[in-house]
Amino acid sequence: MTDVIPAEADWDRAPGLLEGAMDLELTAADCNLRYWIQAVPQGTLRGRPDGHDPALKVGEHMRQGPFYEAITQEYAFRALAEEKAARVLAYLVPIAPDIDGMEFYSTQVLDEARHSMIFRNHLLALGVPAQRLNQAIQEFASPYQDSVLAPLEQRSLEIMRDDRDYIGGVVMMTIILEGALAPAAELSERKWRPIDPAAAEIDKGAGIDEIRHLTVGAAIARQYLLDHPQEKDRVLELIHNGMKMWEYLPTHDLVHWREVKFQEGLERYGDLVGDYEVWPGRRLLDTTPDERQETADRWSDEMKAQRLKYMGLAEAL
Ligand SMILES: [Fe+2]
Ligand SMILES: [Fe+2]
Repeated sequence: MTDVIPAEADWDRAPGLLEGAMDLELTAADCNLRYWIQAVPQGTLRGRPDGHDPALKVGEHMRQGPFYEAITQEYAFRALAEEKAARVLAYLVPIAPDIDGMEFYSTQVLDEARHSMIFRNHLLALGVPAQRLNQAIQEFASPYQDSVLAPLEQRSLEIMRDDRDYIGGVVMMTIILEGALAPAAELSERKWRPIDPAAAEIDKGAGIDEIRHLTVGAAIARQYLLDHPQEKDRVLELIHNGMKMWEYLPTHDLVHWREVKFQEGLERYGDLVGDYEVWPGRRLLDTTPDERQETADRWSDEMKAQRLKYMGLAEAL
C-alpha cells in the first residue's frame, strides 16, 4: 500500500506544513485527480474520516472554560473561512486553461469543503449541540464576520467570479489567503497537541493538504509568469493590494484574544502540558501569548519571502 501513497501525503511520513510548503516542489500535473485519489482518500484520510483517529476523545477541560472559548472561536472562524474558500475556489474550475489545473482545483474545492466539515464537526465533540451548530458558529465567529471574512471573500469573488482572472485567483489563494493563514495552522497543531490531540490531528491532516495547495499554487504562478512575463506588473500589483488588506484587517487583535484565553487555560491545566515543547527547546508552558503570536508571524514572513522568490516575484517583498 505504501508504494502508492506519496510521502508528502502519508500520515506518518509527511513533513510539517512550514517545511513542506517551503521545500517541496509539486505541480498541477503531479497532483492531478488520479494522484489525489491515491494520495488523499486512500492515503492521508485512511481511518480518519473526521480528520483524526476516532479513538481520540475530547477531555472535560476542553468542554468549558478558557480552552473552550479559545478553540470554539478559532474553529468557528476556520470552519467559515474554509467554507468560503471552497465556494470561491469553485470559480477556478471552469476557467482553468488546462486539464491539470481543472483537475487540481476540483480536488482543492473538495479538500476545502472537507476542512470546513471537520472544523465544524469538532465543535460537536466539544459539546455544542447539533441542532445549534450553525447558529453557534455564527456567534463564535461573529468578531471575524464583517471585519475579516467578508472583505476577503468579496475581493476573491471579484477576481475569480467577476473578472474570471485565473492567475489572479491562484495568486490570491496561495499568497494572500492560504499563505498568510498556514503558519497560524502550524501553531495551532503544535499548541493543541498535548491538550486536545484530536484537534492537533485535525490541524495536521489539513496541513498535509495545505502543503499541496501552496506548492501547486506557487508552481502554477511561477510557470505562468515565465510564459507571460508581460503579466508580472499586474500580478505584483494584485499581491501588493492583497497584502495591504491584511494591514487594516483586525486579525492581530482577534488572534491575540484567542492566545490570551489559551494562556488562561495553560495556567489552569498546566499539568496536562508538563514539559511538552511547542518548538525545539521551548516548553509550551513557558511561552506567552505575544511570543506565540510573534513566532507565527515570523514564520509567515519567512514563508512568504521564500515562496515569492520561487515564483519570480521577489519585488513584492
Ligand atoms: Fe483548507
Ligand atoms: Fe487549502
